[in-house]
Amino acid sequence: MGKLDGRVVVITGAARGQGEQEARLFVAEGARVVLGDVLDERGAELAAELGEERARFVHLDVAVEGDWSGVVDAADEAFGKIDGLVNNAGILRFNALLDTPLEEFQQVVSVNQTGCFLGMRAVAPRIAAAGGGTIVNTASYAGLTGMAYVGAYAATKHAVVGLTRVAALELAAQGIRVNAVCPGAVDTPMANPAALDPTADATKSARALDALYRKLVPLGRIGRPEEVARLALFLTSEDSSYVTGQPFVIDGGWLAGVSPF
Ligand SMILES: NC(=O)c1ccc[n+]([C@@H]2O[C@H](COP(=O)([O-])OP(=O)(O)OC[C@H]3O[C@@H](n4cnc5c(N)ncnc54)[C@H](O)[C@@H]3O)[C@@H](O)[C@H]2O)c1
Repeated sequence: MGKLDGRVVVITGAARGQGEQEARLFVAEGARVVLGDVLDERGAELAAELGEERARFVHLDVAVEGDWSGVVDAADEAFGKIDGLVNNAGILRFNALLDTPLEEFQQVVSVNQTGCFLGMRAVAPRIAAAGGGTIVNTASYAGLTGMAYVGAYAATKHAVVGLTRVAALELAAQGIRVNAVCPGAVDTPMANPAALDPTADATKSARALDALYRKLVPLGRIGRPEEVARLALFLTSEDSSYVTGQPFVIDGGWLAGVSPF
């Protein structure tokens, strides 16, 4: 018996990183998944690996309103219903607030914040029609505290926490629970762009990341995307049946406070 037997879950940004691990874990726990991403080749490869019975890939730019109907239609056609959504897609841009061009700020808002809103608006009615289910929004550690040089990102992730709370209130009567995951630093291309750069020295960048997070994070290391996937599984499964409207921090203790030693 899997924790998600019989469930059909849409996962955005599923071609790599945390979304990929969520897709793998959810399928291992019995779910059928619809994977959306702008990385078509990689997303299609993952869906093929997971198998046609269990997974479909659909091109999805979460910021494009029209793309969402394609996802919902594909899920209905392939699996007959949707009863879960993981809004995971996101982008990060580093810049001092006063140096951030408007276009860059708006790009981050459109993916991280508008994308989350459009996803809930498109998918929640299907979840309600299926008799209820779950939505997990991906916020961040930076959705609960400030972080220098990621102003646009932090603003959108605070917004995701706010949207999560409002959606939980408005959708509870339809049997939909809505929660947010708030990861600290997680070892994906977002936190470690060198992983995508064939010219980068992978060993050197891994060593630099290790040293940084050994210092910053009480548990002494960067998180793994599989660990975030297990939290998303908890919030999508019946294990969290009395939980809604909450941001869940998964950060190795980074946000716990300041340690002088
Ligand atoms: N890695 C971290 O340290 C960290 C920390 C806190 C929160 N997060 C959040 O976790 C989520 C997943 O990030 P990740 O760490 O796996 O990073 P990642 O960059 O490896 O993966 C992000 C995925 O989202 C996809 N994506 C980007 N823009 C999209 C769009 N417009 N439409 C659809 N898909 C799009 C990318 O193609 C990619 O597959 C993001 O929301 C991110 O903000 C990450």
